[in-house]
Amino acid sequence: MTRKLGVCYYPEHWPEDQWPRDAARMKDAGLTLVRIGEFAWSRLEPSPGDLRFDWLDRAIAVLAEARLEVVLGTPTATPPRWMLDRHPDMLAVDARGQPRKFGSRRHYCFSHPGYRAEAARISRLLGERYGRDPRIVAWQIDNEYGCHDTTLSYSDAARHGFRDWLAQRYQSTEALNRAWGNVFWSMEYDRFDQIDLPNLTVTEPNPAHALAFRRYASDMVVAFNRAQVAALRPLTDAPLIHNYMGRVTEFDHHAVGADLDIASWDSYPMGFLLDRVEAPADHKAAYLRQGDPDFQAFHHDLYRGVGRDGRWWIMEQQPGPVNWAPWNPAPLPGMVRLWSHEAFAHGTEAVCFFRWRQAPFAQEQMHAGLLRPDDSPARGLEEAAALAADLPRLPDVSPTRAPVALVFDYPSQWAWEVQPQGADFDYFALCFAMYRGLRKLGLSVDILPADPARLAGHDLILVPGLLHLSADMTAYLATTQAQVLVGPRAGSKTPEMSIALPLGPNLQGLDATVTHVETLPPGAERALQRGGAAERWIEAVETRAEILEETTEGAPVLIRTGRQHYLAAWPDPEAMGRILRDLCSRAGIQTTDMPEGVRQRVHGHHKLVVNYSSEMRVFENDALPPAGLVWKLIP
Ligand code: GAL
Repeated sequence: MTRKLGVCYYPEHWPEDQWPRDAARMKDAGLTLVRIGEFAWSRLEPSPGDLRFDWLDRAIAVLAEARLEVVLGTPTATPPRWMLDRHPDMLAVDARGQPRKFGSRRHYCFSHPGYRAEAARISRLLGERYGRDPRIVAWQIDNEYGCHDTTLSYSDAARHGFRDWLAQRYQSTEALNRAWGNVFWSMEYDRFDQIDLPNLTVTEPNPAHALAFRRYASDMVVAFNRAQVAALRPLTDAPLIHNYMGRVTEFDHHAVGADLDIASWDSYPMGFLLDRVEAPADHKAAYLRQGDPDFQAFHHDLYRGVGRDGRWWIMEQQPGPVNWAPWNPAPLPGMVRLWSHEAFAHGTEAVCFFRWRQAPFAQEQMHAGLLRPDDSPARGLEEAAALAADLPRLPDVSPTRAPVALVFDYPSQWAWEVQPQGADFDYFALCFAMYRGLRKLGLSVDILPADPARLAGHDLILVPGLLHLSADMTAYLATTQAQVLVGPRAGSKTPEMSIALPLGPNLQGLDATVTHVETLPPGAERALQRGGAAERWIEAVETRAEILEETTEGAPVLIRTGRQHYLAAWPDPEAMGRILRDLCSRAGIQTTDMPEGVRQRVHGHHKLVVNYSSEMRVFENDALPPAGLVWKLIP
């Protein structure tokens, strides 16, 4: 596999006579890919139909002359101001019913048919001009779907679209009323055009209504992306890519990814630590200048599962301090290089830095680039160049199957957001807690959708919190040769968000009935006999299966029959570690206790060991300074 480094560049931000020098410096630093264009609509079409592609032609020519490959973005995340005059109702509307205004970016509603057609139009025009241009090696469609909370919109367009979507899904209001249980509180409808979006209700809306809306909203992202894919496909053979984000779960990435060729994501480890990772204050303090040791890896493994044939990139990576987290420290020296090595160890084909030069103007003027705003090199450039020198020496780590599969299912995230039952029950957090537990044991993981066809070949399969266990899935879990862990909260509902009857989890061959659940506030954890505790969520289970873990009061927490296990609680880190270790030993998977902050990623005969901690660590006879890393051959 050839691996590449790249950078995000905005030629429209800089005088044209600066472009050749920029291109030469990129080349000198060892970068080979340049992403451009994704926010440039107002310069490509300053007024409706007035196309100005000449400057883009020249920018592409300058980059290509320096032997840089171009990734061209469609500019649909930033419609120009005139677009609103054409489509005054294209803005997304927030849950309080307020339209979200022009003046930043992502000011559109995914449901708006007029804007969707405009997005397809500009993609088609770009495709006609550059689709067969060999200098364009890939396309990025739009930019970060869902960023700035833009997936859910309560606009008129969304209301109309939702009604149509419901009519297609349920065919009759009788069927919808039955599926949702609308007899409750006299919520019955007799026409689809009576059904509103589930915002501004007096108290909570019917969870089935809310979940249907979440599904609809995700389908609109898929449809919006598909409109651009349909425009571009006939015009180019270059791969189509979208850049996803960290912990954005409002749309089904597997569904969007099915229409694309490569998944990419934008990795901002330090921004994420303070903005998106749930962790105690001492953890955040310890990793302040390195980022969380598992958060990036989680997304590498998630998006490898989203990309077709496992193909994925880092489209943006933090090169220094960002501007958008609550606090924005600078990375420890060496971290930019470490993050990139780690991405390569998880199988990425490319790492691109955001951005080339720090902009002295507008919203992101406090966001570092590889160059300072005064054009001198920022520290990130040195690390990028060091990385470029490392690249030819990296072993080939074309993705191989990991021993452990963790199922991640977007509809389950929506379902438990709609009905958390406890203030801190969060599906992502549950999956991430398991993932962290696996990484602390030195394990490599594939994160996959709830599709039996994708799970084959793993020795251990974890299925936490899956909203609904389909017949296919239960049949697969009962017959696979892998050790299987299901739960907590898995299989407890129908896909329509009613309690499953008979009561879940309804695994084949494992006698277990969850009779009721409790959620636990911080401080009310239930101690387990073997140490550690259940936190946040615990179920009462009737079972004749073997009991492997129980509370000190004798309530079963982990049960099993044969290879299938059911977990009836959210284990704290200590209990999680033990449960995962025991499962691995039953699955014949070797575990390694990793020192605090040290992680490894294994691919075939190679592994990368990284030190995220701010102290020297020794692991397998290697002394690793902070931000240290070592590639090793596994005998
Ligand atoms: C990303 C986005 C970029 C830039 C960057 C700043 O979310 O795609 O355009 O805003 O964040 O960190």
